[in-house]
Amino acid sequence: MAFTRVIDAEDVQEGHPVLVVVGDIEVALFRVGNEYFALDDLCSHAEASLSEGDQYGHIIECPRHGGRFDIRTGKAKHFPAFSPVSAFPVKVEDGGLFVDVAG
Ligand code: FES
Repeated sequence: MAFTRVIDAEDVQEGHPVLVVVGDIEVALFRVGNEYFALDDLCSHAEASLSEGDQYGHIIECPRHGGRFDIRTGKAKHFPAFSPVSAFPVKVEDGGLFVDVAG
């Protein structure tokens, strides 16, 4: 799949992750400064939505058990999360945020 426009970039604010659906994948969007990031919204530890977690800069903390992930890479950074979540390429064009869930 190619890049898909998912939201106006200005609608994603730092510290306030946003959930969107691309195809059949739920994607959590994050902003740090003027950079944007996209992760698979489903925590790799159990059933929880990362977009409902607390964001600390480039870290998202899962709302269920406190596992942490780097929003730039999806890499697990803190117990009890060990497995990464998928990180998707993001680009901004004409004020829109585009995500490539196949990337
Ligand atoms: S469900 Fe996310 S850390 Fe357990």
